[in-house]
Amino acid sequence: MTSVASTTIFPTPDMVPEKYRISFPMEQRHYLCNGVLREWTGPRQEVLSPIFQRHGATVSPTVLGSYPLLTKKQALATLAAAAKAYDHGRGEWPAMTGAQRCRRIAAFAERLEEKRADIVKLLMWEVGKSKSEAEKEFDRTILYMRDTLAAMADLERASSRLVKERGVLAQIRRVPLGVVLCMGPFNYPLNESFATLIPALIMGNSVIFKPPKLGVLLHHLLLEAYRDCFPAGVINTVYGEGQEVISPLLQSAHIDVLAFIGSSRVATTLKKQHPKPHRLRSILGMEAKNAAIVLKDADLQQAVDECLSGSLTYNGQRCTALKILFVHDDLLDDFLGRFCRAVEQLPCGMPWDEGVQITPLPEPNKVEYLKGLLDDACAKGARIINRAGGSIDHSLMTPAVVYPVQPDMRLYSEEQFGPIVAISPFSTTEQVIEYVTLSDYGQQVSIFGRDTELLAELVTPLANQVCRVNINSQCQRGPDSLPFTGRKDSAEGTLSVTDALQAFSISTIVAARENAENKRLLPAVMTREPGRSHTGPESSS
Ligand code: G3H
Repeated sequence: MTSVASTTIFPTPDMVPEKYRISFPMEQRHYLCNGVLREWTGPRQEVLSPIFQRHGATVSPTVLGSYPLLTKKQALATLAAAAKAYDHGRGEWPAMTGAQRCRRIAAFAERLEEKRADIVKLLMWEVGKSKSEAEKEFDRTILYMRDTLAAMADLERASSRLVKERGVLAQIRRVPLGVVLCMGPFNYPLNESFATLIPALIMGNSVIFKPPKLGVLLHHLLLEAYRDCFPAGVINTVYGEGQEVISPLLQSAHIDVLAFIGSSRVATTLKKQHPKPHRLRSILGMEAKNAAIVLKDADLQQAVDECLSGSLTYNGQRCTALKILFVHDDLLDDFLGRFCRAVEQLPCGMPWDEGVQITPLPEPNKVEYLKGLLDDACAKGARIINRAGGSIDHSLMTPAVVYPVQPDMRLYSEEQFGPIVAISPFSTTEQVIEYVTLSDYGQQVSIFGRDTELLAELVTPLANQVCRVNINSQCQRGPDSLPFTGRKDSAEGTLSVTDALQAFSISTIVAARENAENKRLLPAVMTREPGRSHTGPESSS
């Protein structure tokens, strides 16, 4: 799309600060299969940045590069490589001890850290994330990896114990599940891809990884590190159209785990394609329509601050974002006034601008979709109540505060995943409990108030509908040590540092009747490392 530059916030190429420029275009011609970076000479997908640039009188999208559009043939080759690396649990990787695998992951983490500056820059250009949010995403991912290594060490210690139960000696192990298909989302292309990729690998599975379509090039920077740090076939990458490269994988019946973060519509389509549904484990993170409930005794400023960052951090493109605010009639006027003033002060600009909050949106046609939501609400009686709310400049939309949002409007139930704040008035808490109960989603909720009794009354019914009730705080996933999940169309499976290790493994028991011979024998069997003859003294626990 090219248009005439009348007034636009987008820069000319020389306005981009030198240290944030990247050498264009970045043509990705390789994919990783069976430990080899294979060259692809077929068609490639052009990658456009949400950051447009001015050239004289015109404004056009920045071309960042391209990536391979693989076909079924290459996808099935990655599957064969992953299956061979797993080899029914007898491959080098699944047969390693947890400690051995941890060493490989730690080496990979070091290689990843070397790429910090480049990955942060690509997060800015590929998905329009502000520099500070991009840095947070990167640093959080490294922390997550380190915490996962520590959790794995704990798990290994627990697994090495011998349990005695009613005449049975047992060792309870966590073992891998097989071949995992990992697909991450565009809004956290690094962090949420690694939130499944790393635990899947550390537990001994082999992986086929499809990076998100937006945020794909940053993963290109890691291909050599994957190749160098893991045995051949343990991690393979695919790129291309879902029907071409993902459907054949699922239809093969050889995918054991689907780790997908994206829409429930796509998750449903993917799961249905597996011919043996009971063999497929799914770990899914999907949509949410998290509500904030601002009670009449809420600390107004605190509620405004939390709702502001809860609904508009990274332009509202977080699954945990507050997507509708229910505000009690008694403080509605004050809340709306303060909230709109705060929204009007949010700096809009390019990801490298100091203090920027609102940045270009990466999804193609996203502003048109958001405009459709605004038009629908306004046609049914709502208004955009903040100054310049909803104004569009190519891929950038100024946040729109929409009030009053009513049940017949799309914004009431549809996940906007963008810079629109929907506000509804309420007079009785029953109304908001009913909203949460009837919603298709069940991730989190935030309640703002000070009356302990009222808060306590609300917590139980809400906790039975969603998976995290936040008090006087916005919704969020972190810290990653806490379980993160959802009900209904919001999630399947639980992720956290420790839960993810469980999600990508299964319990298996090595057991024996408790007698003198087995007491001597079992500890020796347990401590023997695979692939080594046991010559040392037999240990006992
Ligand atoms: O997009 C969904 C993310 O899991 C949200 O994570 O709450 O840390 O931004 P966050």
